[in-house]
Amino acid sequence: MKQANAYLATIMLALVAGLGGNVPALAAATQAAPIRYDAARRVFRIDAGKVTYAFGVNADGELQTLYWGSRLMAGDPLPVAVPPAPRSSFDPVGADTPQEYAGWGGPITVMPDLKVHFADGNRDLVLRYDSYRIDDGKLQVMLHDRRAGIDVMLNYSVDAATGIIGRSARIENHASQAVTLDRAASASWNLPPATDYSLRYLTGTWASEWHVRTRPLTPGATELESRRGSTGDENNPWFAIERGAQWNESHGRVWFGALAWSGSWSIHVDQDVLNQVRVTGGYDPFDFSYRLEPGQGLDTPVFYAGYTDDGIGEASRLMHQFERDRILPAHGHPKLRPVLYNSWEATGFKVNEAEQERLAGKAAALGVERFVVDDGWFGARNSDHAGLGDWTVNREKFPHGLKPLIDKVHALGMSFGLWVEPEMVNPDSDLYRRHPDWVLNFKGRPRSLGRNQLVLNLARDDVSQYVFQVLDELLSRNDIQFLKWDYNRNWSEPGWPQQAPDRQQQVYVTYVRHLYDIIRRLRERHPGLEIESCSGGGARVDLGIMGLTDEVWPSDNTDPSDRLSIQDGFTYAYAPAVMMAWVTGSPNWVNGRSSSLDFRFLSAMQGGLGIGADILKWTPAEDAVARRYIAAYKDIRATVQLGRLYRLLSPQGHAPRSATESVAIDGRQAVLFAFLRQGQDAQAYPTLYLQGLDETARYRYRLIHGKAAAGTPAVASGAYWMHHGIDLELRNDMDAAAAVFERIGTAGNVRR
Ligand code: GLA
Repeated sequence: MKQANAYLATIMLALVAGLGGNVPALAAATQAAPIRYDAARRVFRIDAGKVTYAFGVNADGELQTLYWGSRLMAGDPLPVAVPPAPRSSFDPVGADTPQEYAGWGGPITVMPDLKVHFADGNRDLVLRYDSYRIDDGKLQVMLHDRRAGIDVMLNYSVDAATGIIGRSARIENHASQAVTLDRAASASWNLPPATDYSLRYLTGTWASEWHVRTRPLTPGATELESRRGSTGDENNPWFAIERGAQWNESHGRVWFGALAWSGSWSIHVDQDVLNQVRVTGGYDPFDFSYRLEPGQGLDTPVFYAGYTDDGIGEASRLMHQFERDRILPAHGHPKLRPVLYNSWEATGFKVNEAEQERLAGKAAALGVERFVVDDGWFGARNSDHAGLGDWTVNREKFPHGLKPLIDKVHALGMSFGLWVEPEMVNPDSDLYRRHPDWVLNFKGRPRSLGRNQLVLNLARDDVSQYVFQVLDELLSRNDIQFLKWDYNRNWSEPGWPQQAPDRQQQVYVTYVRHLYDIIRRLRERHPGLEIESCSGGGARVDLGIMGLTDEVWPSDNTDPSDRLSIQDGFTYAYAPAVMMAWVTGSPNWVNGRSSSLDFRFLSAMQGGLGIGADILKWTPAEDAVARRYIAAYKDIRATVQLGRLYRLLSPQGHAPRSATESVAIDGRQAVLFAFLRQGQDAQAYPTLYLQGLDETARYRYRLIHGKAAAGTPAVASGAYWMHHGIDLELRNDMDAAAAVFERIGTAGNVRR
């Protein structure tokens, strides 16, 4: 197998090199084999999208990164791998080699990917190249420390469209003694040495998620991390590193990536004294310990990363495309988000059959397509003090079960959704009274509450089986199309007393694997079921959970002004295709800010539109406004959700003005949103220059809301809208406008 691949790879290389300047043929040839191995030079090379990635085997047998950047020509030679020369007795050869995946052992001083200790006290692990295979467009490179008996398989997958590469590792113990992994990363990404990098990352907290932060990289480390047991919102497992002072939305070299993992995680960004930058990501090493008996193995999550020359805006668009095509369960055919109604902000826990039916009737009349019953429908759930864990319908609130409401919702032409928080339990619940040992805890130690609840230990087989069964029954007995899957606290006291002490910390891995397994099995058993990942807002958004869910709830903060920043930050890493946004009441409960229904709708229309207001209190005039926006949204949602997003004016840092533009994948429509949070001394709103249009096509524009400057043409070329731009008249506090540009044909010879 290996021999055959090496032979084929060499032939392909010779073939491609011989093509000379024949670019289309060359492109076709490289497309046919995005991953190649040059056996003579011992160089692996990946060409995909606009990216080339290469690494080689150096004379010491280490796997060394050679290149990661814009696509090279097929014939371009890549140097063989040579480790940095020794500089002093403190940095001998091998200390700071930019290895693809390094064990902690030998003279190494850079951040290792894998650190182990054996039962006999040995902690030295030196990983060397063994072999490779290319199967089904995927590369697997085998490393080993033969004497220690540890094998590591590095997996590389490639997305031909975006050039995003996925990397993970499988660590196997072939020794005769047990080994404990103290640190197990998925991969390290090495950037070219430089002193002018800056790191962009996302940070936040409940109701204030998705703030974009930038800091210069200097020698030293930055640890982006969650120690919370789940993804968290303090940092999100995404990074972007940009080179030089000139980067912005549409210019500059950007290396970016994200981890597909919903448990504790770490992305460690290190710039060493040689100005080498290394990004190591995977399981959070904090409190990590994973014991492998002889013959056992551990797989890491996938760490995805990409590159672009075209600024952070393009980096985001590549991520969005990759998520739609490769991550989301619908794999390249994401279903459009239906317009949703949810009464949580209107009714809280006071849900009941009669009122929910009234709300459903009104929602359907407004054009809503999915009706969701939130918290409060089950057990003794009248507040957040009781009931979690008891997933049986509360008969005081729904005397006839959920069926009459579900039937009514369906009869009104809407799909039906239900809120669940399956991983949690209130101590005041039948489940906890029956199984107090089912939660994460340390024997004999206090159990810290968060929102009056404890975390069920899904790592236990019995607990995860129970959770699956309860949900499977709920979905089998009721005709439910959608679950809002909530998760409202961090872990504390993450003990697993039923396990042997040296296996208890496996809870960090096993819990999340069981969670994924439950959702995967539910989806298999109930095809068509859609799921939203919610974690008190946006505390569980990552490429891992995204692979099993259809949408996410970015924040409990529904103030439409705060939301502009929240949604903007979200889009750096994640696609608008999954970003839900609701129109709720004014003044908003978060900050008492009042806003017009127009502003609230336009802000929420940047994502998957939902209504969360008490619509029974809306006046006929408000109903008419809502009907009009919902209809307008249906007309543009494919563009907003699946199109190419351009961030024209940033709302970050409480900026008063912000604007976005989305261009449909087929180029037929573009949608522009512009907001003014606070009027600025009667100053004019800046001219907005559209992007991503066809210069030679003609576009007719119409306003959904707002006013354009007098003389704005109804029809003009893409060149006009992109170079002349459009002037919108936004002057007042909390003002907003939206416009749609429809392509109506070619402009002829507009650029002579
Ligand atoms: C979390 C969610 C909210 C709502 C409540 C219900 O806070 O983020 O949207 O579902 O739980 O308790």
